[in-house]
Amino acid sequence: MSAVFYRSMDHEYPVAVRASGMHIYDRTGHEYLDMSGGAAVSCVGHQHPEIVAAINEQIGTLAYAHTAFFSNRPQEELAAMLADRFAEPDARVYFTSGGSEANETAIKMAYQYWRAKGHNNKTTIIGREHSYHGNTIGALSISGNLARRKPVTGLLHNWPRIEPNYARYYRRENESEADYSVRSASLLEDAIQAIGPDNVAAFIAEPVVGATLGAVPASAGYFKEIRKICDRHEVLLILDEVMCGTGRTGRFFAHEFDGVVPDIVTLAKGLSGGYMPLSATLVRRCIADAFEQGQARFSHGHTHVGHAAACAAGLSVLEVLGRYQLIGSVEDKGRCLDDALRQHFGDDARVVDFRGRGLLRAIELDPEALRAGVTGHSPPVSIVERLRNAAMRQGLICYPGMARIHDKDRYHILLAPPFIVENRHFDEAADKLRGVLNEVCGG
Ligand SMILES: Cc1ncc(COP(=O)(O)O)c(C=O)c1O
Repeated sequence: MSAVFYRSMDHEYPVAVRASGMHIYDRTGHEYLDMSGGAAVSCVGHQHPEIVAAINEQIGTLAYAHTAFFSNRPQEELAAMLADRFAEPDARVYFTSGGSEANETAIKMAYQYWRAKGHNNKTTIIGREHSYHGNTIGALSISGNLARRKPVTGLLHNWPRIEPNYARYYRRENESEADYSVRSASLLEDAIQAIGPDNVAAFIAEPVVGATLGAVPASAGYFKEIRKICDRHEVLLILDEVMCGTGRTGRFFAHEFDGVVPDIVTLAKGLSGGYMPLSATLVRRCIADAFEQGQARFSHGHTHVGHAAACAAGLSVLEVLGRYQLIGSVEDKGRCLDDALRQHFGDDARVVDFRGRGLLRAIELDPEALRAGVTGHSPPVSIVERLRNAAMRQGLICYPGMARIHDKDRYHILLAPPFIVENRHFDEAADKLRGVLNEVCGG
């Protein structure tokens, strides 16, 4: 009997013992093709020797020195590298250990920024429905992932959320994409006006919605409108690129596609590719200035902020991404993955949509077909769990999810493979996915 408090107490987890490139192996020798990098984490593949060596070297020299006392070389170099990639000069970077912490940092920074500027009432953070920003209380409070909010609703702040930007379900008939973008963004202006601009600190959104909706990029022009609205009402724009950043869409920052510059952007997952827990909250110079010039201290901090070995992992991941031009290959590989999925499932009525950007892609499944396969499971296993378990049996790691939109459950399977993925993996993954659908839909 294990002493581990597992995510799910009634599930038996295989024990992973080693990994290499695109694969993870469990202790029975079963091989899993990692087509989602876990949860879009692994971007350079597993056990990359250069990254393992860089981490070992850092740990052999200086694993950790508390950042209340010291800075360290990997933190300095990684911050400079990230700031260099940002659209504006002199950005500042705050390092934490996971996506939730990065978003907690972002909302605390927005709140304290406005206090430093003398706007003490600017405290509300507006989010979007069907979004996910993390599982800590603050990050979950700004999230619209209903399944994750529900068990702890009473603990959460009651902050407002606007409709997501998702043309497939929210664009009106005969509405052009441009008109939809403007109308969809205007919902933020309505929300700001309802609360009063003097009370709103920030708006947060994922440029490509990941886990909750399954790889949904914004309609063209949406974020440009959002940026204008934020500027008009002095509301900070926080973009959560925990899942879609660090090259996953084909550009280093996902917001480069949207042609906007956020005030704060958060990164995690691919930033250290799973080699160490690491996240970053990057802020524009003008935000950092308010703390530097206003004699205000940013009141925050965790024990492992700026962890030397974690930052060394991040640094090495960025070096490997650059040396092998991996981000440059993401758009092409994403297109090939999409083509392969359409070839395999274009005529399959169980698959109703193909979407995504770069190597953040998803298929949407017909809920009726999925429900047809549900036959008296006891205890009831959700369809999402059934999809994940069936995939594991097929030797496939993918990331299924569900969102309830217009009173209907919409299921998707997210695919976010490491950037080293090759064409042959796409057909293999599609064959395994067919096995998953056959098992779950009973076809
Ligand atoms: C967009 C986004 N933000 C934040 C988080 C939370 O990150 P973490 O699980 O590392 O705390 C996630 C995790 O899936 C995410 O996808």
